[in-house]
Amino acid sequence: MHRRTIAPGALAAASLLLAIPASAATYSPGAPGIGDPYYPMYGNGGYDVSHYDLRLAYRPSTDELQGTATIQARATQDLSRFDLDFLLDVSEVRVNGARAAFTSSGEHELVVTPKNPLAKGTPVTVVVRYHGVPSTKSAYGFNTWHRTADGAVAADEPEAAWWWFPSNDHPRDKATYDVSVAVPDGTQALSNGTLQSTVSQRGWTRYNWRQDKPQATYLATLAIGRFDITTGTSEGGVPVINAYSRNLGANDGAARASVERTGELVDWLSGYFGPYPFSSAGGYVPATTTGYALETQTRVYYSPKQFAAGSNTSVVVHELAHQWYGDDVSLKGWKDIWLNEGFARYAQWLWSEHEGEGTTQELADYVYASHPADDAFWTVKPGDPGPENQFELPVYDRGALAIQALRNAVGDRAFFAVLKGWPKQHAYGNASVADFEKYAEKVSGKRLGTLFDTWLFQPSKPAAPAARAAAVAPAVAVRMAVRGGRAPGATFRRISPGAGTTRTQTLLQR
Ligand code: ARG
Ligand code: ZN
Repeated sequence: MHRRTIAPGALAAASLLLAIPASAATYSPGAPGIGDPYYPMYGNGGYDVSHYDLRLAYRPSTDELQGTATIQARATQDLSRFDLDFLLDVSEVRVNGARAAFTSSGEHELVVTPKNPLAKGTPVTVVVRYHGVPSTKSAYGFNTWHRTADGAVAADEPEAAWWWFPSNDHPRDKATYDVSVAVPDGTQALSNGTLQSTVSQRGWTRYNWRQDKPQATYLATLAIGRFDITTGTSEGGVPVINAYSRNLGANDGAARASVERTGELVDWLSGYFGPYPFSSAGGYVPATTTGYALETQTRVYYSPKQFAAGSNTSVVVHELAHQWYGDDVSLKGWKDIWLNEGFARYAQWLWSEHEGEGTTQELADYVYASHPADDAFWTVKPGDPGPENQFELPVYDRGALAIQALRNAVGDRAFFAVLKGWPKQHAYGNASVADFEKYAEKVSGKRLGTLFDTWLFQPSKPAAPAARAAAVAPAVAVRMAVRGGRAPGATFRRISPGAGTTRTQTLLQR
C-alpha cells in the first residue's frame, strides 16, 4: 500500500496542524480488506471497532430499512480515509462529529474521508445515516437477505452484515452491540443478546437488544416478523429466549420440540466446554426457505427445513457448540473454519453417544469407511479447505474425524482438558488452527505435528491404522458404509451444514 501525504488544503487548518505531531505528518488510506486471503476485500484496514450502536426502523410491507449506525473505533494507523463494508444507500457520514466525504467503491466498500485525518491510537466515532431496500442490493451477484411473508432475516456466513449495517466485516474485528429496531405494532424484532426494553408509540414498537460480549459481524443477526417468543432459564442459570414464526405450519411442533431444549443442551455442553460464555442463549425459527442453520451469537438461526423430518436436537447441539467454538473463540482467518465446524460436528457425535445412537468412535469409523480413497471427499484439507469448500462436508465430517484421531492419540484425559481449556484460553478472542495445535501439544505433552498434518492438511485419505489406535473398523461401520456408499470418485454433495441431517446422522437416527 502506498503511503500518501495528506492534501495541502487540509493542512491549512491551524487546529489540524496543532493536532498532528510533527513525527506523524503522513497519513494514508486504510486498506479496503483486512488481509484475509480467502476473501481479500472483506473487512478493512486501519481501525478496530469496539462497539456498534444500530438504531433501525423496518417496514415489512415494503422491505424498507432505515438506520443510524454509531460506530466506536480506534485508528490502528495514521488514517487519511477508511472503508466500511456496506450495500445500502448512505445519506450522511460524520466522523468525530464532523461531516465526512463518502463514496461507494468496489462490490461493498463505503469509502469515508474524514474532514480531519485520524492519528494512530485515537478513538473515533463514526455516524452513518442510511436507508434502502436490502432485497434489491447485491454484491458479487448474490444477496443473503431473506425476505419472509411477514418480514425479513439477516443470517448468513460469511456475508450477512452488508445488507443491514456498515461494518468492518471480518471475524477478526469483534465488538459489542446495541441493536434497536422499530417495527409496526404486532410485529416482533429479534437480535442478539438480551432484550433490554420495548417501547410502543405512534403504532410502532421498538425492541432494544444488547450484546454485551464481543461478537463477530457475521454472528450479528436481525429478524423481523410475527413470532411467538418463549423465555426461561436453564437449570444451570442461563436465560433462554427463543422465537417461532407463526408461519411454520407442520414444522412447528418439531421446531419447538428441538429448540425448546436449548437450556438443557447448553447445560449439557457446558460439561464439555466449560461455563456458557454469554448472558443469554436461544434460537429462532423464521419461515425462511433456506436449508441451513447458523450459530448467530446467543440467538441461533434455524431454517424450518432443519425440522422437516421431525425433531432435530442434533442441529441444536451443533449450533450451541459453536457458541464456544466459533463465537466465544472466533477464527483468525476464514481458513481456520475447522475450529468452528469440526468441533460443532464432534459435539453432535458426543450427543449421539449420549443418546445411545452411536459412539463418537463408531461415527468416526463410519465416516472413514464411507468414503473410498478416491472419493473427492479426501481431497479437501479441513485445515485449509479453500473458500469454495469452506462449508462442504469434509470440513465437518473429516474435521470431526481429525478430532477423534486427536483424542485417540492423546487419551481421554488430555483430550477433554483441551476441549474445555481452549475456550478459556482464548475467551472472547480469535485463534487459528496453528494456535490450537500448539495448545493441544502443551496440554497433552505430545508432539502432534504429524497427526495434524495427516488429518487436516493432506489432500488424501489417511492410512487405516491412523484412523484408530485399535486397528480395523468394526463390522457395523462397514455394513453402514455399504448402505450409504457412493460411487468411487463421486463428489460430495453441497450440504446444508447445520447438519443434523447428514447422511450419517439420518442413518443413525432411524
Ligand atoms: N456455520 C453454519 C453451520 O454450520 C454454516 C452456514 C453456511 N452458510 C450457508 N449459507 N449455507 O451451522
Ligand atoms: Zn456449523
